[in-house]
Amino acid sequence: MNDYSQFVLANISKLPEAGTITCSSPSNIALVKYWGKRPIQLPENPSISFTLEACKTTTSLQYKKRNEPGEDFDFELLFEGKPKPDFKPKIKSFFTRIEEYLPVLKQYTFVIETSNTFPHSSGIASSASGMSALAFCLMQLERKINPEITDEECIVKTSFLARLGSGSACRSLEGPITVWGTHHEIPKSNDAYAIQFPYEVHQNFKNYQDTILLIDKGEKQVSSTVGHDLMHGHPFANKRFEQASINLTKLKEILISGDLNAFIEVVESEALTLHAMMMTSLPYFILMKPNTLTVINKIWEYRKKTGSKLCFTLDAGANVHLLYPDSEKNEVLSFITSELVAYCQNGQYICDKIGLGAKIL
Ligand code: DP6
Repeated sequence: MNDYSQFVLANISKLPEAGTITCSSPSNIALVKYWGKRPIQLPENPSISFTLEACKTTTSLQYKKRNEPGEDFDFELLFEGKPKPDFKPKIKSFFTRIEEYLPVLKQYTFVIETSNTFPHSSGIASSASGMSALAFCLMQLERKINPEITDEECIVKTSFLARLGSGSACRSLEGPITVWGTHHEIPKSNDAYAIQFPYEVHQNFKNYQDTILLIDKGEKQVSSTVGHDLMHGHPFANKRFEQASINLTKLKEILISGDLNAFIEVVESEALTLHAMMMTSLPYFILMKPNTLTVINKIWEYRKKTGSKLCFTLDAGANVHLLYPDSEKNEVLSFITSELVAYCQNGQYICDKIGLGAKIL
């Protein structure tokens, strides 16, 4: 059993009466993918991601002390200004999971107001930015209750709580690159929370760009919970978990050395492996669309023709993330507008880049 008693808020003096905390937290894009977990929300393999900047959630948490602590959590949820009852069960189960570590939740009535910078149902997962933003707000409340907590302890616990909301959320709090999951070559890496990539990153990755092509904005065919479950009893599971660790070792060297050809190889292979895992599970899924494949082939042609370092990665969906150095921005953007936009649903794409994580607003 893991001992996470260090994360229990014990030092409760006076509870603040009422107030509002507002913060923003970004999405992130995994380079080595987290796919497969064991209870509760512990990853089967380590993962590493670029924190994004433009795709983010802004959350404000209004809190008001109740006269008596209630039997149940008391919160309202507004998404983009309107009540959103279908998000409530997810928040309720998040509260249930984290109550052990934040035992004041039932002493408050909350109003949670949240909105995303990216279009709703764009196929961009909002759980990473949404859960990290909420965990961040809650930790600012904890800070008022226990002002002794240090910045370092606060960020670690925020990531720990965010993970209990959604695994990938724990990688969104800091930037530009974070690692989650124990890896023998990354000191302090662990399964309970993410840490910043602890080495100096090569200049080539400074301001690295991520343009997200919205290929298919339909509702996700496979929820992440179902998706991760597919790795239980999957015939290739153990090999895949080993491979993720090996890829993280490679990526560590690549991020330090700035070897962009090697970067392309690891990142694209990770994306295709994630989808290969889905195609070879029972039940099986194909989450790529014909346009996803067309775009991938176009990227490969473009690279061959121009020597560009543009590459792609995928989430558990049809959208394509185009990753490329800042120095190629103009050329790649004109390639996107002339050749790729036609394959995006309603011509939509989002320009993002590597960012620095959550902040108080
Ligand atoms: C394919 O973090 O959404 O994006 O822990 O069940 O909330 P839960 O899953 P989630 O899974 C993300 C999977 C991925 C890869 C990644 O981000 O590492």
